[in-house]
Amino acid sequence: MSTDFHRPIVSLTDLAVTLTGAAGPVEVLRGIDLDLAPGETVSVVGPSGAGKTTLLMVIGGLERPIAGRVEVAGEDLAALDEDGLARFRGAHVGIVFQAFHLIPTMTAIENVAAPRELAGAPDAFERAREELAAVGLDHRLGHYPGELSGGEQQRVAIARALVNGPNLLLADEPTGNLDAATGDQVIGHLFDRSRERQAALLLITHEARLATLCDRTIRMADGRVEPEPRAGSGEPRVEGDPSPPERGAAGAADSGSPPAEPAGGADLRPAATSVDDGNEPRGTAEHHPASAIPATAR
Ligand SMILES: Nc1ncnc2c1ncn2[C@@H]1O[C@H](COP(=O)(O)OP(=O)(O)OP(=O)(O)O)[C@@H](O)[C@H]1O
Ligand SMILES: [Mg+2]
Repeated sequence: MSTDFHRPIVSLTDLAVTLTGAAGPVEVLRGIDLDLAPGETVSVVGPSGAGKTTLLMVIGGLERPIAGRVEVAGEDLAALDEDGLARFRGAHVGIVFQAFHLIPTMTAIENVAAPRELAGAPDAFERAREELAAVGLDHRLGHYPGELSGGEQQRVAIARALVNGPNLLLADEPTGNLDAATGDQVIGHLFDRSRERQAALLLITHEARLATLCDRTIRMADGRVEPEPRAGSGEPRVEGDPSPPERGAAGAADSGSPPAEPAGGADLRPAATSVDDGNEPRGTAEHHPASAIPATAR
């Protein structure tokens, strides 16, 4: 898939999203302007409820804005119907969520092959095998999600997100359900694989240290993007507030998006990969050996 390196991969103009729940409408995103360059790695930080996940959903074509323009990989998303959006995701976007969202009744290789099969590619299983090998899981092809550790499940999710060769990878707190060491391993794969593929990466994280691995950091608060801090002014503190469970996401296996029913991971093996309950802030820097940080992530 070719990428035009002179054109932003993501271009948001005066984007607004209002979501209406039982308690009434909430202005979740309020006038967001944002460009991402092809291949750029960008972290998104900000307090709980700032609108980070909603921003990711809009860029992935899983949530519709009420105003503004969303252009991703040269496509004006407002011009696409649901089928068009599914095709758009299949062609351009891979998504990795905190809770993995693998299909529990499918093996690792079936999970990874699914979006490529949906795209009609004849080489779905061959490519799935390659992607799983690239994240070190060629010995787990036939395992179901319930037979994989949390870190392994997230590596499967990364392989699935990349199987169609997207030029944009969206990751929403991908280490949020993992212990620190496993999280580092997963982040290493995420950065290495996206850079190998020259895919841009938008990484939502509550971990200041992970944010600094990216080319730049976007801070969100109250539905807006705050001005970027000047280089050398020191990294902004990232709050360590607990993350609530993710909102159920629309979409299916069309692009590595989650199925309606999350994988759960009920019988994750505890000792080797002790999985947090997902509501704990991550550990401190001492728990993140520098050697675990991918060489390609500055
Ligand atoms: N369906 C909905 N109806 C009304 N408001 C909603 C709906 N879904 C989310 N919201 C509100 O939108 C706001 C932004 O939610 P979002 O999930 O984007 O935040 P976030 O920055 O990702 O937070 P966190 O760090 O906790 O994941 C929140 O205040 C939330 O309550
Ligand atoms: Mg969120």
